[in-house]
Amino acid sequence: MNKLIITFLALMATVAGIALAADAKAGADVYNKTCKGCHGADGATPNEAVGKMLQATIPVLASPAIQAKTDADFRTAITAGKGKMPAMKSVTGSSIDDVIAYLRTLKK
Ligand code: HEC
Repeated sequence: MNKLIITFLALMATVAGIALAADAKAGADVYNKTCKGCHGADGATPNEAVGKMLQATIPVLASPAIQAKTDADFRTAITAGKGKMPAMKSVTGSSIDDVIAYLRTLKK
């Protein structure tokens, strides 16, 4: 009986672990809706017209310089904005982790 309970708890922990892990696929959807307009497809081709409008250089997110930054740096840019990048208020909760997980898949 005890064994059964332990097995059940272990199973629940596994399921919860999967549910809590950041989801890069969901992050890609967030990215394509919210970030692509400025940072371009796959974070590789920043939108120059928008960059001119903002009078900013939109960084290539796939670049080593950006990938060298920490997840905390990414989180700050998304939630609080950075320089000419406004805070992305529509990205909240687990979507923040998801989009960060997606950004990490862009690394070359
Ligand atoms: C309105 C255009 C725009 C949108 C939309 C936008 N960004 Fe940015 N982003 C910028 C600009 C401009 C910078 C450069 C900021 C600076 O360093 O002055 C930047 C910088 C960044 C950086 C680098 C931060 C750092 O620490 O140097 C990350 C990461 C980033 N953006 C991620 C995102 C993500 C993820 C989204 C979508 C949730 C997003 N951006 C949406 C314009 C945008």
